Amino acid sequence: TSVAAPREHFASRLGFILISAGCAIGLGNVWRFPYIAGEYGGAAFILMYLIFLVILGLPVMVMEFAVGRASQRSAAQAFDILQPSRRWHWFSWWAYIGCMLLMMFYTTVCGWMLAYMAKMATGTFDALDPDGVAGVFGTMLANPSEMVGWMLAVVVIGFFVCSLGLQKGVERITKVMMIALLGVMALLVVRSVTLPGAAEGLEFYLKPNFHNLMYDADGNMILFESIFAAMGQAFFTLSLGISAMEVFGSRIGKQNSLTGEALRICGLDTAVAILAGLIIFPACFAFAVAPDQGPSLVFVTLPNVFNQMPLGQLWGTLFFVFMSFAALSTIIAVFENLITFTMEKWDLDRKRALARTAVLVTVLSLPCALGFNVLAGITIPGIGDIQSIEDFIVSNNLLPLGSLFYVLFCVTKGGWGWDNFLAEADTGKGIRFPRWSKLWLKFGIPALILVIFVMGYVPKITVWLGMA
Ligand code: PHE
Repeated sequence: TSVAAPREHFASRLGFILISAGCAIGLGNVWRFPYIAGEYGGAAFILMYLIFLVILGLPVMVMEFAVGRASQRSAAQAFDILQPSRRWHWFSWWAYIGCMLLMMFYTTVCGWMLAYMAKMATGTFDALDPDGVAGVFGTMLANPSEMVGWMLAVVVIGFFVCSLGLQKGVERITKVMMIALLGVMALLVVRSVTLPGAAEGLEFYLKPNFHNLMYDADGNMILFESIFAAMGQAFFTLSLGISAMEVFGSRIGKQNSLTGEALRICGLDTAVAILAGLIIFPACFAFAVAPDQGPSLVFVTLPNVFNQMPLGQLWGTLFFVFMSFAALSTIIAVFENLITFTMEKWDLDRKRALARTAVLVTVLSLPCALGFNVLAGITIPGIGDIQSIEDFIVSNNLLPLGSLFYVLFCVTKGGWGWDNFLAEADTGKGIRFPRWSKLWLKFGIPALILVIFVMGYVPKITVWLGMA
């Protein structure tokens, strides 16, 4: 194919690390993680989540980078290049569809963040009581043109940055955004933990409550559900299983070992998730607002908190700037991946690939944006509206099974193979990939993923059977 010209790499190592971290750090950290941790008992859940990050997430991230760096291609061609046997090549579609499906709801939720940034800055929530604040969210969801408008804003910003090029657009802008994100976050943490009454929130968040991990409010056993949620969150937050990270491995040279790079990126990602909780929980408790409300936590609960806080409009705006940056950095990274994939799969130049991807993403994002109003009738019992369906397909299916694919590809003889993988991962300065982990990778991870995958379906199937 004609993509044989020297491949454009990132200009710097910091650029690579911050873009990969930008892809990882997103709604998963600042929106999903806090509400899931809030639902499943705070620190006890976090402990389990951290274990999954290390024993599942980290090795899979090294594998994605290794496949990318060895092949110097996106998922469109990487498997063909590393393993001529056609048995593995179908996965390129899995990767493409996975990233596309993710964007189909991510653009909408990222749009909410932009909308709330604007609403906060213009004082929409001033003097509203909690019902009024909840009403703002409901009104927004019910308004198709507002929902589509914000979604389009996200798509335009994302593709505009990509249109400036890999180094001049994606790398330069993401770098600035990520550094700003870390700065704003530090400010918000200090503000939140120094609020009078913050201690109770810190306790809720940081003191393990194993009861909430195992039982729901009605006393039903939910331990398997918690484990499933923790595993799903580990894959989701690290962007694993649909080759989103793989492409960034294809944009670096051989100077540094991949285990070291993956550790840095996981570290940044985990730090942002934990700190997001440190912003949200102390603030909720300081102003007596319940933190276990699920997905609406950020939109329905937090504006009340800012309403009561001195200079709340300023802090609230900063908070949604932080949220928007996190989400946009992921959008830009995944758009970039889809564009590179399209260039390689269909042999197009960057301009054409960008145009084609932009049209597809825009059209395919409509169902989610309209799923709360015009298309609200479309739901699946036990799962929910269009957004929940798309999220379920990606998070509970494509990410864990796709990660399983990477593991099998990298450790079995019929795939790329252990020796090739190790050699690639260990090329360059830095930490080596632990050799003793092979048995765990080969048998432990597949068994764990499958068991937890099946267990995650049990509650849904119970609902489906109950209806039959
Ligand atoms: N890691 C991203 C987040 O936390 C989501 C994501 C998942 C991105 C999978 C790419 C691939 O928001």
